Amino acid sequence: MAKLGEVKSHAARLFGQGQPLHALRLYDAIVAVAPLDYEARLKVADCLVSLGEPTLAADVYRSVSWYSLKSGHPLIAIVAARVLETLNAEKDDLLAALVVRYGSESELINKFAGRLNLPGSDTDVAPPDLRTEAAPGFISAAAKRAATCTDEFDEYPEAIHGIPLLSQLSEDAFRRVVGTLLVGRLPHNAHVIRSGEPGQSFFFVASGSVRVYTVDGLGRETELAILGEGAVFGEMALISAQPRSASVQVVGEADLLEVTRDSLSALADELEPVAQALLKFTRERLLNNLMATNRLFKPFDRSQQRDLLRRFTSHDVAPGTDIIHQGDEGMGLFVVLSGEMDVFSEEAGKTTPLATLRSGDVFGEMALIRGEPTNATVRAAKLSTVLFLARDYVNRLVAIAPDIKKYLLALAEDRQMATELLALEHDDHADDEIVFI
Ligand code: CMP
Repeated sequence: MAKLGEVKSHAARLFGQGQPLHALRLYDAIVAVAPLDYEARLKVADCLVSLGEPTLAADVYRSVSWYSLKSGHPLIAIVAARVLETLNAEKDDLLAALVVRYGSESELINKFAGRLNLPGSDTDVAPPDLRTEAAPGFISAAAKRAATCTDEFDEYPEAIHGIPLLSQLSEDAFRRVVGTLLVGRLPHNAHVIRSGEPGQSFFFVASGSVRVYTVDGLGRETELAILGEGAVFGEMALISAQPRSASVQVVGEADLLEVTRDSLSALADELEPVAQALLKFTRERLLNNLMATNRLFKPFDRSQQRDLLRRFTSHDVAPGTDIIHQGDEGMGLFVVLSGEMDVFSEEAGKTTPLATLRSGDVFGEMALIRGEPTNATVRAAKLSTVLFLARDYVNRLVAIAPDIKKYLLALAEDRQMATELLALEHDDHADDEIVFI
């Protein structure tokens, strides 16, 4: 006997190594004891495709798609339906049922709904001995089992959860978007998104999981989240037109549905509510990431961090707005939540660009820490959101958390040095100019 989780991982490895028959034998052993394991059944179908049996595979994909629809896993149902399309097999009845069940007019959607979970990974499975030959007719028997094992099953939940974002759409827009979703079926460790790259789409996790992480300038990794079925990611770059804010990598295996710019244009006049919902996700995640990675929050535990965050006020600023004007008194501390700021100084009518600040960057600390007037202007370069913490509160914070004082002092010193270096470079260029003229 072995545990279902181990058998599944081993089967995935064999499949990845180009051994679909071995993998099929293991997945079939899982389906034999756990017919509700729709993931294993989907893999049976994948193995059948690799073994050159698309017709047998199509029967399994159809059956899994129906089961997933009824059992509360609509995203997997979409994955299976889209794969059927690539096999030129019938799928329209599935998509029609999907829209009826999960569209905005569905009477089955209810927040107190349930769904049928996968069987536990510690379920006992009796795997075959892969050193022996498979029995004659094994492939069609395995296909039959996976295609029919839930035919008699009838304990489906009466109410189901909606699909985030999609279930708010009219049935028509829902149908159009589903028709444009791209399917990604990815192995362990595959990177879906790399931090810093441009981003033109967002994703739903249909099954499996992904981890979200960032790496700082010293190469240290911070894990921001593990996301599972139903989660949305990749929306931040799309919403803010900024590079990807984090990397996203598959853990185990994952099936993803990608919503591209094309899918979004299929929404036509229903784009607005989806954009609003994505904005909400984005904001919540930016705040979480700020707490997880910004040094202002480091000395505190999670609930203190939340408390500190509540003291900040949030301000949306239009491009061209000055947040700090050089020479003014320091009012408090700012953190860029999203967008971009230009920092520049002006002297004798000459403007010197000093820096560009982005999500997570702190500013306003120099005047505060030194009690001097601000020595540069900070201007929004794009539509941005900044968080602001008033001077009195910063003073109290610094008094109770010496690490924060140290951090702000070091930041102010680094920036002072960078400004002086820039000024020197400027002077050098000034000399150059004299020589060349
Ligand atoms: P984007 O910046 O486009 O690419 C990386 C994605 O990681 C990002 O969008 C978010 O969808 C996701 N992400 C970033 N931070 C978090 C977080 N704290 N929790 C969950 N997902 C996140």
